[in-house]
Amino acid sequence: MEKREVQNPEFVKGAFARICKKYSLANHVLSMGTDILWRRKVGRLVAEHKPGRILDVATGTGDLALELQRSCPDADVMGADFCEEMLAIARDRGLKESLVADGLELPFEDDSFDVVTVAFGLRNMSDWKGGLQEMARVLRPSGLLLVLDFSLPEGLLRRPYAFYLNRILPRIAGLLTGERDAYDYLAGSIERFPSGGAMLDLLSEAGLREQAWKPLTKGIASIYTGKGPDE
Ligand SMILES: C[S@@+](CC[C@H](N)C(=O)[O-])C[C@H]1O[C@@H](n2cnc3c(N)ncnc32)[C@H](O)[C@@H]1O
Repeated sequence: MEKREVQNPEFVKGAFARICKKYSLANHVLSMGTDILWRRKVGRLVAEHKPGRILDVATGTGDLALELQRSCPDADVMGADFCEEMLAIARDRGLKESLVADGLELPFEDDSFDVVTVAFGLRNMSDWKGGLQEMARVLRPSGLLLVLDFSLPEGLLRRPYAFYLNRILPRIAGLLTGERDAYDYLAGSIERFPSGGAMLDLLSEAGLREQAWKPLTKGIASIYTGKGPDE
């Protein structure tokens, strides 16, 4: 199957609807549990902010939103996703507040949340800057935006990792989920997605301040943060 060159929303929604039942398990197997540690780290960073209201965009089956419910027990955590099938699983797993919504057109007032998070979701949107601008809009001026996503390691690891992404991961994931297409798309989407300094520039263009980048596990994933735009 040919790799998709753009994040077509209908393809993305359909792909996640097809893999939804196996999504979380496949992630944990393919990352050997590392994704759980990455989300825990996000939970700790968000808790330091002592938020009252948190929005987790592209929440999927709720892996990060559920972690945020645990790490910030006093906060209201809302999970939003445009794929109802993924969201239904998040609700079954205990996500208390959820809404079917497009991250590019969030149905919330300006300045509604203390923290907005998006994990492995922005990359799948058809407009990365538009998605960040929309998250910045619903974020309070002193609020925290946090993006967790795959990135490409620098140096010697880069080529072997690209080989793993393009040749090995889609095969294993295809066997696990029966949906190899969805994982061929994943590899291409990681290679196209801005990482490191390029992502910090994008955060700045979207109006976020004090952008910072924390590479995780030799740079195969990264946490990017920014503060809400000035009033
Ligand atoms: C890889 S999953 C990530 C799920 C979850 N955040 C996690 O950490 O496991 C990507 C999710 O992004 C959602 N998504 C992609 N584009 C979206 C958009 N424009 N608006 C809302 N959700 C979107 C998909 O439906 C899917 O559930």
